[in-house]
Amino acid sequence: MRIAVIGVGLIGELHARIFKHNPLCRLVAVCDADAARAEQLAQSLQCRAYSDYRTLLKDEMLDAVSVATPESFRHEPAVAAAGLGLKMLLEKPLGRTLDDVDALIEALGDAGAESAVNFILHAEPRFARMKQIIADGGIGAPVSVSARRVGSRLGIEKYAPWTDLLSSTLIHDIEMTLAVNQAPAERVYAEAVVRACAQYGCHDAVVATIRFTDGAVAIFEASWVLPPTQPEPLDPSFRLIGDGGSVVIEGASHGMKVVGEEGYSQPDLTHWPMLPEGVGGALARSLDIFLARAHANLPPLVGLAEARKAEAVVAAMKRSIKEERPVGMSEFA
Ligand SMILES: NC(=O)c1ccc[n+]([C@@H]2O[C@H](COP(=O)([O-])OP(=O)(O)OC[C@H]3O[C@@H](n4cnc5c(N)ncnc54)[C@H](O)[C@@H]3O)[C@@H](O)[C@H]2O)c1
Repeated sequence: MRIAVIGVGLIGELHARIFKHNPLCRLVAVCDADAARAEQLAQSLQCRAYSDYRTLLKDEMLDAVSVATPESFRHEPAVAAAGLGLKMLLEKPLGRTLDDVDALIEALGDAGAESAVNFILHAEPRFARMKQIIADGGIGAPVSVSARRVGSRLGIEKYAPWTDLLSSTLIHDIEMTLAVNQAPAERVYAEAVVRACAQYGCHDAVVATIRFTDGAVAIFEASWVLPPTQPEPLDPSFRLIGDGGSVVIEGASHGMKVVGEEGYSQPDLTHWPMLPEGVGGALARSLDIFLARAHANLPPLVGLAEARKAEAVVAAMKRSIKEERPVGMSEFA
């Protein structure tokens, strides 16, 4: 499959590096509004560079594309690629508002396009195994989830100016929680702390709950306020209690601690570790799964319908914070 990446910032560059090494595809081009950035990456990966996605789609006979621009610019390239019948991997989230997300899903539906959405926890071995255990009835029916995704204030610097904590970060745990609970979400309640992020109109920290129609509950904690000296890039955890057992996924570390001249750290071995052979972790596995399923014409691991459910809960949490009340999911059907 001839593939290109649109938007090669932090995550899109990693997409390109992963595709470069996958034998199921050939990375033919990268595209970024920052022409110098696209050119530099293209040189290092020996492919062509574009600064306009329309020229890329016109000039290259692509089979597949990944769209890793900021979510405020997801719609246009995705719909253009869908019009050409390309296989697509879209970064999460799908838009800045649920209306944007619905407009994108509708346009992709009109073009007859299915698309994978890059919720990488599904490709992380611990979460993939947890899903299997639950599906096999290993811990009974889910009763409660407690999920945490806590980062340093570097997250505020990079992401608060153009996205927010719920859409960019906690959406991973929300989507996974919806995937493993058997019943739909019924009601959401959320409270937020707004300090450093006041200037951007978003939240420094959020604590939120979901109630499911079968009575199960979930509680979430997210923030990006810790100092950059925090030893790990991200400190997540996920605990699911069922009526026949439990699963606990603790922390980003796989048990590695490093002490050096610059202090103590727990390097990322989970999400996208940079290893001598290239990018590893859940991101690489997620993209490999996308390619394998696209190649075999199989439905994606996480598609638009699953992504929409998570986006609806994010929208409900934002409304709950704003209106200081529990919000029924029927408002977002
Ligand atoms: N799945 C994950 O685990 C994961 C991880 C990180 C980021 N993301 C998502 O990926 C998206 C990008 O995040 P990032 O951290 O890479 O941001 P980033 O700012 O590092 O990169 C975005 C890139 O898109 C480019 N861009 C902007 N507008 C463009 C346009 N019109 N045409 C072409 N390129 C354009 C920018 O120049 C920049 O290089 C976000 O939606 C984010 O939530 C997902």
